[in-house]
Amino acid sequence: MSSRTVIRGGLVITASDEIHADVLIEDGRVAALAASATPAADAFTADRTIDATGKYVIPGGVDAHTHMELPFGGTFASDTFETGTRAAAWGGTTTVVDFAVQSVGQSLRRGLDAWHAKAEGTCAIDYGFHMIVSDVNAETLKEMDLLVEEGVTSFKQFMAYPGVFYSDDGQILRAMQRSAENGGLIMMHAENGIAIDVLVEQALARGETDPRFHGEVRKALLEAEATHRAIRLAQVAGAPLYVVHVSATEAVAELARARDEGLNVFGETCPQYLFLSTDNLAEPGFEGAKYVCSTPLRPREHQAALWRGLRTNDLQVVSTDHCPFCFTGQKELGRGDFSKIPNGLPGVENRMDLLHQAVLDGHISRRRWIEIACATPARMFGLYPKKGTIAPGADADVVIYDPGAEQVMSAGTHHMNVDYSAYEGKRVTGRVETVLSRGVPVITDREYTGRAGHGVYTPRSTCQYLT
Ligand code: URP
Ligand code: ZN
Ligand code: ZN
Ligand code: ZN
Repeated sequence: MSSRTVIRGGLVITASDEIHADVLIEDGRVAALAASATPAADAFTADRTIDATGKYVIPGGVDAHTHMELPFGGTFASDTFETGTRAAAWGGTTTVVDFAVQSVGQSLRRGLDAWHAKAEGTCAIDYGFHMIVSDVNAETLKEMDLLVEEGVTSFKQFMAYPGVFYSDDGQILRAMQRSAENGGLIMMHAENGIAIDVLVEQALARGETDPRFHGEVRKALLEAEATHRAIRLAQVAGAPLYVVHVSATEAVAELARARDEGLNVFGETCPQYLFLSTDNLAEPGFEGAKYVCSTPLRPREHQAALWRGLRTNDLQVVSTDHCPFCFTGQKELGRGDFSKIPNGLPGVENRMDLLHQAVLDGHISRRRWIEIACATPARMFGLYPKKGTIAPGADADVVIYDPGAEQVMSAGTHHMNVDYSAYEGKRVTGRVETVLSRGVPVITDREYTGRAGHGVYTPRSTCQYLT
C-alpha cells in the first residue's frame, strides 16, 4: 500500500534553487515537485496535505559531526543516541554521522560493532558512522579497506590528546596513503597536542587552573601549525583531507592557501566558533567550563575569518561537534584543573536555527545556509542525493521551517539531555515546525510524533565532493 503526502505552497530552498513549489512524497521519497498553483501541482493527490504557505520547505539537516555517548575524560557524553537524535529532529536535522571509536589495542571492527550496538533500534532519525582511528597498525590499515566497502568511508585522526586518540605523523601518513588507495576521507583534529600538553603543565604549575586557561594554552598558532602539517602530509600521500572544527583565522588561511593550490582540502567549522568566544570561557565562577571544547573558542576577532571562509568556500561545512556534558557532575570534574574538564559542547538541536539567524544577520544567503548544513555534508560524506536535497528520488527528509517565528534558546525548553544551553537566552528568528524523516512525521506542528528506532543505519559511498 502506498502512502502519499503533499506539501503545498511553501518556498522550497535547496543549495541551488528557491522556488514556490508543491512537493509530492510517495513511499518515503520525494516523487515530484511542481510550481505551486499550476495544473501540474494541482494534479498531485495525496492521503495527507501539509500547508506550508508562508513557510520554507528545506531538506532535513545533515550533521556530519556528533558524539552521542562518547567516553571522554572518565565520563560519557550525556546524550544517548535516543535522546540526541530526538533533539536533532527538534532542531530540523534528519541525519547525523557519529564517530565510532577504536580504542588503542582494539580492532576497528570491535569499535564499530560497539557503536552499532549503542545506536541500533534507538534513533529517531537516520544515522551513519565515521571511524575514529586511534591505533594505526598493519591490521588497522587492512580493516580500513573493509570499512570503506561497507559504508564507513571516513576516518578521524587526532594530532591532539597524546595517550588517548593521538596519532603521530608517521601513523597519519600511513592512514592517508591507505585512504588515497581505498577512497576513504581522513578527517583531522588539527592541534599540536604534544606542544599543548607542555603548555598545560606549565599553566597548571603557575596556578592557572580556571577554564579560561584552556583557551590560552590551546593556541591558534598550534591549530594552524597542525592544519598546515596535515595538509602537507595529505599532499604527500595524494589523499584528500577534511579538517574538523576549524576555529582559528590562521587555520582558515592554511586551508585557503592549500585550496588555491588546487588541493582537495576541506574545512568544517561549528556554530560555537561562529557565535561564542573566549568571553564565554572567561565567565565568572566556574561558568566558563560550559564552553570548554577543542579546538577551543577563540577571541571574537576570529569569527570574521570563519564567516568569510564560509562565503568563499574555503570552509564548506558547518557541523555541531555535539558532545554534551552536564555542568553538574561532569564539567565540574575540572574544578581546580581546567585540563580535567570534559571537552565538548551541546548543539545538535541549535545548528539549523543559528545558521538561519546568520542568514538574517547577512553573513550567508538562504541557499548557502542549505548548502553548508545539508547538501555539502551529504556530498562530502557520500549521502547525496539520498540526503541533503529535495529532488525526485531523494529520501523525503523534509523540514517545514517558519522563518518568522521568534524563539529564545534555553536549557529550560531544549530537548538535548544536558543541563545547560551554550546559547542560554539567545533570541533567534526562525523555528522548525514540522519534520519528516523518509516521509514519516517526526515533529508535527511542534510536537514530537517520532519514535526510537525509526532511524536506520545508513551506509555511505565515498566522498562526492572531490575536484
Ligand atoms: O571538544 C570536543 N570537540 N570534543 C569532542 C571530541 C572532538 O575532538 O571532536
Ligand atoms: Zn576533534
Ligand atoms: Zn581561496
Ligand atoms: Zn568531535
